[in-house]
Amino acid sequence: MASVVVENLTKEFGNVKAVNDINLKVNDGEFLVLLGPSGCGKSTLLRMISGLEFPTYGKILIGENDVTRTIPKDRNISMVFQNYALYPHMTIGENIKFPLESRGYNKSEIKEKVEWASELLKISDLLDRKPRETSGGQRQRTALARALVRDPEVFLMDEPLSNLDAKLRHSAREEIRQFQNQVKITTIYVTHDQIEAMGLGDRIIIMEDGIIKQIGTPKEIYEKPDNLFVARFIGSPAMNILSKQDYYIGFRPENLEIEEIFKGSKDDAFKIELSVNRVEFLGNDTLIYCSSDLTDEVITSKIISNEKLNIQAGNKYQFFIDNKSIFKYSKDTEKLI
Ligand SMILES: Nc1ncnc2c1ncn2[C@@H]1O[C@H](COP(=O)(O)OP(=O)(O)OP(=O)(O)O)[C@@H](O)[C@H]1O
Ligand SMILES: [Mg+2]
Repeated sequence: MASVVVENLTKEFGNVKAVNDINLKVNDGEFLVLLGPSGCGKSTLLRMISGLEFPTYGKILIGENDVTRTIPKDRNISMVFQNYALYPHMTIGENIKFPLESRGYNKSEIKEKVEWASELLKISDLLDRKPRETSGGQRQRTALARALVRDPEVFLMDEPLSNLDAKLRHSAREEIRQFQNQVKITTIYVTHDQIEAMGLGDRIIIMEDGIIKQIGTPKEIYEKPDNLFVARFIGSPAMNILSKQDYYIGFRPENLEIEEIFKGSKDDAFKIELSVNRVEFLGNDTLIYCSSDLTDEVITSKIISNEKLNIQAGNKYQFFIDNKSIFKYSKDTEKLI
C-alpha cells in the first residue's frame, strides 16, 4: 500500500488544459473519488497517475517513488476501466489469473490468489464459465478480481460501473466498498454520478475545467459547499439559488419548508412566498416545484410526505428557511461568504 501525491500536475492537449496545476495527496488506504461533469479532466488525471499519459508539467509520487516518467508496468498499480473487456474465449478463472501468468508467478501462488480474490468477490462458483455465461455484475466483479490479484499498491478505477443498470450498479457499489474496506488498498475512483461519489468516497474531489473546486468528506461537501459550482453540483434536487444585491443565497430543498409544517422560529428564518406549480409524490418524500418573481429558475421544496397537508398547484404559499440553512456566495468570486 502507498499514498499518492500529485504536485502541480498539468496536462495540455494543444490549447486545452485538461488538467490545470493540480495538487493533491491521497492517503495510504484511502478511497478517494474524483467527481465532476463530462470533460472536466477526471480521466486525464487518472491516466497520468496510471502512466498511460505523461504530464506536460508536474510530478507524481507513489509512496516514496517519483513515477512521473515511468511506464504503467513499472508502477505498482491496477486499473479498471469503464469497458473492462474480459477475454471471451477464456473462462472467468483464466481471465483472473491471466495477469499473474504473464508476470511469472508460480502455480500454487496463482491458485491461492485466484481463490482469495474470487471468494472476496463472490464468484468462486463461476470460475469455469465463459464471460458470456455470466451476468453483467459478475463480469464486473471478474474484472475487479483480475485487477486485485496483482497485489497493487494503488487501485485506479474509471467509471467501472457505468454500463450496469441501476440495481446492479447499487449492489456492485456496495461490493466495491466492502472489499476495499477489507483490503485497504489506496483507491482512486472516477465517476460523474454524485450519489455514487457520496456513497463511496472517504473524501471526494470535485473538479471543473481541469481544476479542483473542493476536496472534503461527503458530509463536509454537502454541508459546506465552498463555492457556487459545488453548491449547484452536489445535492439532488439541486440547491435553490436566488440572486440578491451583492451575493447569491442558496438553500437546499429539504430546508425550504411550507409554513404549516415549519417548526423553527420565524424570527430566525427567511420568509418567501412561492407559487406552487406542481406537487410530485415520491413515496417517503414529496417534492413541491415552485416559482418566484425573484428568479427564473424552479424552486424546489422537499418534505416528508404528509397526508394531512393539502397543497394545491396554482396556489401561493408562505415558505420559511431557517437562517442557519442559508449559504451566501459572493457575486464577484462565487465563493462562500
Ligand atoms: N487525447 C486527447 N486529445 C485532445 N484533447 C483531449 C484528449 N483527451 C482528453 N482531451 C480533452 O481534455 C478534456 C478532459 O478530458 P477527460 O477525458 O479527462 O474528461 P473526463 O472528466 O474524464 O470526462 P467524462 O466524464 O466525459 O469521461 C476534455 O476537454 C477532452 O476533450
Ligand atoms: Mg472520463
